[in-house]
Amino acid sequence: MSGPTDDETTEMLRAAAGAAAWAPSVHNTQPWSFVLSGGELGLRADADRLLRVGDTSGRQMLISCGAALFNVHVALLAKGQRPQLRVLPDPDRPNLLATVRLGESDGADEHSRMLYDQIELRHTHRGGFTDDPVPAELLRVLTLEAEAEGALFTPVASPSAVRVIAALTTAAQEVQEQDLAFSLELLRWSRPPGDTRREGVPAHAYPAAPSRTEPQFDQRDYAHGRGWGFERQVGGQAPGHAGVVAVITTAEDRRKDWLTTGQALQRVLLRACAHGVSAAFHTQALEMHHLREFLREELLSGEHPQMIMRLGVPEETLGTPRRPLDDMLEEDL
Ligand SMILES: Cc1cc2nc3c(=O)[nH]c(=O)nc-3n(C[C@H](O)[C@H](O)[C@H](O)COP(=O)(O)O)c2cc1C
Repeated sequence: MSGPTDDETTEMLRAAAGAAAWAPSVHNTQPWSFVLSGGELGLRADADRLLRVGDTSGRQMLISCGAALFNVHVALLAKGQRPQLRVLPDPDRPNLLATVRLGESDGADEHSRMLYDQIELRHTHRGGFTDDPVPAELLRVLTLEAEAEGALFTPVASPSAVRVIAALTTAAQEVQEQDLAFSLELLRWSRPPGDTRREGVPAHAYPAAPSRTEPQFDQRDYAHGRGWGFERQVGGQAPGHAGVVAVITTAEDRRKDWLTTGQALQRVLLRACAHGVSAAFHTQALEMHHLREFLREELLSGEHPQMIMRLGVPEETLGTPRRPLDDMLEEDL
């Protein structure tokens, strides 16, 4: 069987970049760009979109880009390609995070197609979940999905450990709310109702008033008391279910591990989505060095915490816009 023509290759790589754009990213910064040239797709970190206060090291930027890379990979697998990925291929070009070329074509597997089908259906949830449980078997499968990408996904079983994570989240949220630089950065990426910019967190995706869960998991305050955001709250005034708290960790904490985390995160989220399960994120504590170290040493046996999430069945979640592909893809054909 002959391989794809140059035009077909270009079309597949362009479509894969389009799929990448639907990845989650911190504050929907979409901190990536793509270059398509000579049958190769390059994924770059867009340093202009770095959160200079909340993400000084670029850790969350690279996790976001890792999630985008997973979408590229799975989009090509779903087309029956076995892409060749090179991660951080050139030490002299640190912003070039990965290159992707088409490899053998051997027919799409069902697993990749299932994950691919979720890419545009997956949305971040904010607030409590319904009473519907997350099956234990699904949690086991999610652990395997993360492991396949090289990261550890751990549902937190102990109620006291869950309370500690909730308390650290509250501590970080309180401190960040009092910090003008943090607040201004959040303000820059939260959007008022009716805003048509295709980046940042839109008003239909965050609650007007902080949602309550049991135990309480404080959310980032995108509304900032301005009356923006949605009013809905699972169960009316009663606290919603916190769901299953889970962390993604890595043994080391290099740029490569942050990309790995993003790949594992997106694989977990897509698989969960296929089973009607969504994630809410609470990464405030990981933005504060001492709290992150505390988690690592006291709860995670020395593993580096990269993501904190709650998983559950939402009533509904709404999509968030993305920049048009032309804004993020440079073609040099
Ligand atoms: C590294 C990372 C950290 C995030 N942290 C939070 C968080 O603390 N709170 C939150 O509500 N959402 C968080 N998110 C979710 C993003 O805000 C969300 O992905 C983005 O707004 C795009 O929306 P979508 O996921 O619905 O497509 C995080 C996402 C990533 C990738």
